[in-house]
Amino acid sequence: MLEIIDLHVEAGGREILKGVNLKVEEGETCVLFGPNGSGKSTLLAAIMGYGHCTVTKGKIIFKGIDITHMGVDERARLGIGMMMQRPPNVVGVKLGDLVVAAAKYDKTALDHAEEFRMESFLNRDINVGFSGGEIKRSELLQLTAQKPEFILLDEPESGVDLESIDLIGNKVHDLLYQPRPGCKGSQCSRHTSALVITNTGQILDYIGADKGYILKEGLIRCSGRPMDLLKDIRERGYKECISCRMVEIKE
Ligand SMILES: Nc1ncnc2c1ncn2[C@@H]1O[C@H](COP(=O)(O)OP(=O)(O)O)[C@@H](O)[C@H]1O
Ligand SMILES: [Mg+2]
Repeated sequence: MLEIIDLHVEAGGREILKGVNLKVEEGETCVLFGPNGSGKSTLLAAIMGYGHCTVTKGKIIFKGIDITHMGVDERARLGIGMMMQRPPNVVGVKLGDLVVAAAKYDKTALDHAEEFRMESFLNRDINVGFSGGEIKRSELLQLTAQKPEFILLDEPESGVDLESIDLIGNKVHDLLYQPRPGCKGSQCSRHTSALVITNTGQILDYIGADKGYILKEGLIRCSGRPMDLLKDIRERGYKECISCRMVEIKE
């Protein structure tokens, strides 16, 4: 479904991603670990096609289409959706209007607001004065309205209090396992594909992840079973990984 080939990305005049290779198959959930500043959010920004970064080399292929230099709106229409780590405030645009637009102007999408405890936010400017947990719930409500085929989640559990983590985790689960619109027969048991960034691994209590990657200093150093990688990271940090042979950094 998604293939990233030798991706080099620059931001602020510095090379942040130095040749990333990564694949997410249809119906697969992949998890991306990595220390702060390793380039995880930059990788998602490059896949979604927004923000500060410039692809200087390599390719991003989605459903067989080269999307490397496409606009963010085209990528969203192709079926990519994203929950940002720190989405911007959008002054002058109401959350409810964005939810309806994300659902291709289907107003019934607003009915989901209640399950996300977001009814009283629909008339507010997007993210303005929202708490950490409210921002995450708002992002998930937008994704539920958009129904993307491929979902990018950037630290869905970060900044969320323990009480709300259950709601966020269960909603992420529902989002990944909802049947695709129009799916028939065995296709319906397949779930939405996703690439999920997590630092704490908490979200893994809610979703079954198929494959894990460790991104460090702009390169994928390691891949393996998500729970094995998480155990190694908890025990040894990002210095070494015993469940795979951590690839040495070639500068
Ligand atoms: N707009 C920008 N200009 C310059 N450098 C940036 C910009 N955005 C991110 N970076 C840098 O890119 C590196 C990777 O950032 P990021 O992708 O956010 O890391 P992660 O999500 O893994 O913590 C960091 O050193 C960060 O400071
Ligand atoms: Mg980040």
